[in-house]
Amino acid sequence: MLDKITVVGAGNVGATTAQRLAEKHLARTVVLVDVVAGVPQGKGLDQWESAPIEGFDTRVVGANDYGPAAGSEVVVVTAGIARKPGMSRDDLVRTNADIVKQVSQQIKATCPDAIIVMVSNPLDVMCWVAKQVAGFPRQRVIGMAGVLDTARYRAFLAEALNVSVADIQAMVLGGHGDTMVPLVSYTTVSGIPITQLLPKAKLDPIVQRARNGGAEIVSLLKTGSAYYAPSSAAVQMVEAIALDRKRILPCAAWLEGEYGLSGMYCGVPCKLGRGGLEQILEVELSSEERKALHASAEAVKQTMGVIAV
Ligand code: APR
Repeated sequence: MLDKITVVGAGNVGATTAQRLAEKHLARTVVLVDVVAGVPQGKGLDQWESAPIEGFDTRVVGANDYGPAAGSEVVVVTAGIARKPGMSRDDLVRTNADIVKQVSQQIKATCPDAIIVMVSNPLDVMCWVAKQVAGFPRQRVIGMAGVLDTARYRAFLAEALNVSVADIQAMVLGGHGDTMVPLVSYTTVSGIPITQLLPKAKLDPIVQRARNGGAEIVSLLKTGSAYYAPSSAAVQMVEAIALDRKRILPCAAWLEGEYGLSGMYCGVPCKLGRGGLEQILEVELSSEERKALHASAEAVKQTMGVIAV
């Protein structure tokens, strides 16, 4: 168990993340920070009042400043605006870059040893902004995207096959956008290659639906974007770090030559433990998958070009 985890942004994703962290007993204190007066305090208090029923001792507190967050071992960043129908994640870039810059300065000042788990979109570019501004090594700035994209893909596959989600193993790599790369060659059902269980004609639309998973929710909600699955995904990463589980999860990591790519964040298989990003695993890709990963990384670079850090 960690001493303190801070979640910046007490909106849909942030508040749900705080609650899940508390319910999983991952820290003694969870601090919710938001710019809106009263909201983080109110949501924190409401969650803490659920503790006697849910059976957790994690103290959830809210604040409008970073004083109570000081010394946090992990900071999850969910601050920013969410998508509306018709918007791509990249449409958020300027507004959210300014917010993430300001948040990262505060993290650097108050939590200099923290591991940042970035959730704000466009994800890969926001990771870069946080890394630049906080000046942390790549081990301590990691992005949540692949775990969510993979969860969506796994959920759709389980539905199509009428099997338990627990038995679907998969990885979605690349940037967190339309160019993400679900690795069909590494998708198995309890070790059985998915291609033996589903014909291409059924598999292709599932891959496409996973790519479009965020937009599907946005078009249904109309006033915001997904938060139940995104918060679950962020908490799975925090759990791997807090409990030093050495889990292999697809995360956005700063690349320094892996997969022939460098100078951008991109989703790759990562080992997460108490040190944060402890290793990037380089797995064999088909030439098609490699091409798709490079195209996805190129799309991230283009969005990076829109802002100055
Ligand atoms: N510092 C702290 N909090 C901030 C700041 C800031 N500088 N600027 C905005 N916020 C807060 C808002 O006040 C709001 O409470 O961030 C919160 C965002 O919450 P929502 O609007 O509910 O958005 P949410 O659905 O939680 O998505 C947040 O995560 O998944 C991504 O694309 C999504 O970028 C978006 C982010």
